[in-house]
Amino acid sequence: MLLFQIFRCPWLLITVLVPCYGSLKPGFSQLQRGHRLDRKLIQSFTEVSFLDCVTECMVTPRCESVNYFKGANYCEINYENKTTAETNYMDSAGWVYSERGHWPKELAGACSNSTCEINQTCKHKRYSEENFFECVLSDCGIPDQKGINLNKTRREDAIGLRRRIHASCADRYSKSGSGRLNCQSNGEWKYNIVCEVLKREMQNIIRGLLPELDYSVPFQSEKFCFIVLMLAEDMTFMGYEAYRAKKFSETHLLQL
Ligand SMILES: *[C@@H]1O[C@H](CO)[C@@H](O)[C@H](O)[C@H]1NC(C)=O
Ligand SMILES: *[C@@H]1O[C@H](CO)[C@@H](O)[C@H](O)[C@H]1NC(C)=O
Ligand SMILES: *[C@@H]1O[C@H](CO)[C@@H](O)[C@H](O)[C@H]1NC(C)=O
Ligand SMILES: *[C@@H]1O[C@H](CO)[C@@H](O)[C@H](O)[C@H]1NC(C)=O
Repeated sequence: MLLFQIFRCPWLLITVLVPCYGSLKPGFSQLQRGHRLDRKLIQSFTEVSFLDCVTECMVTPRCESVNYFKGANYCEINYENKTTAETNYMDSAGWVYSERGHWPKELAGACSNSTCEINQTCKHKRYSEENFFECVLSDCGIPDQKGINLNKTRREDAIGLRRRIHASCADRYSKSGSGRLNCQSNGEWKYNIVCEVLKREMQNIIRGLLPELDYSVPFQSEKFCFIVLMLAEDMTFMGYEAYRAKKFSETHLLQL
C-alpha cells in the first residue's frame, strides 16, 4: 500500500526510501524464520508483500507483531508479541515472525503521527488537502465477558471486523450458547455464549463428591442422584449433610 503510493511520486521515493532503507536493517536482521505466534490474530491479509504486512501492523495501534507466510504472500497481524504470549510462540515451517518494535516508525508514513484509537486502523488518503490519513474501525477488541476462556480458540479465529472467535467458559463456569462470537461491522461483538458461575455450595459439593464416586459399581448412584437433585432444586450443602445423617442412622438402626 505504502510502496504503491511511493512509486507514483518519484520525489517521495527519494526522500522517504533513502533514509528508510538504512533503518530497515534492524527489522530484517531480527526476523524469526520458521516461527509463528498462534491465536492472537487481529486480522489477516492475502496477496501482500512482507513490507506491506509490517506496514499494516505499524498503522494499527493494537498490533504488536506479524506472521508472514512467504509461499502464499499471506499476512497475519497479532495483538500480542512473543514476550507477552510466550506459550503461543511456536515453530512453524515456512512462516516468518517479526515484531513491531524492530521497525522504524516512518514505515507508517503519514500514519506515524496519527491519533487513531486502539480499535482503529489508520488509512492513507491519497487525494485530500487537510488530512493525509483517516482512522477507520479495525476490530471488536479482546472479548472480556465474565467467565469467558479464549485459550481454546481455533487457529483461524480473529478479533477483526467480520471475523469470529470460538470461545469456551473458564473452570467453574457453565456454558450456554454455541460459543461463537461474531465481530460485527459496527465494531461490536455479537456474543453467542453465556458463562454462568456455578453456585459456591454446588461447587463444594460436586468437588467433594465426584472423586468419591466409583463409576464401576452400579448404584453407587445415590450421591450422583443427589447432585442432580441439588442442581435441580437448589438444595444446600446442609441439606445433603442432613440427608446423609438420616440415611446413616436408618441403615444402622436396621442393622441393630
Ligand atoms: C511486547 O508487547 C508489550 C505490550 O503488549 C510491549 O510492552 C513490549 O515492549 C513488547 N515487546 C517487544 C520486545 O517489543
Ligand atoms: C510527525 O510529527 C513530527 C513532530 O511533530 C514531525 O517532525 C514529522 O515530520 C511528522 N511525520 C509525518 C510523517 O508527518
Ligand atoms: C489461559 O492460559 C493462560 C496461560 O497459559 C493462563 O494464565 C490463564 O489463566 C488461562 N485462562 C483461563 C481462563 O483458563
Ligand atoms: C473504540 O474505542 C474507543 C476508545 O478506545 C471507544 O470509545 C469506542 O466505543 C470503541 N468503538 C467501538 C465500536 O467499540
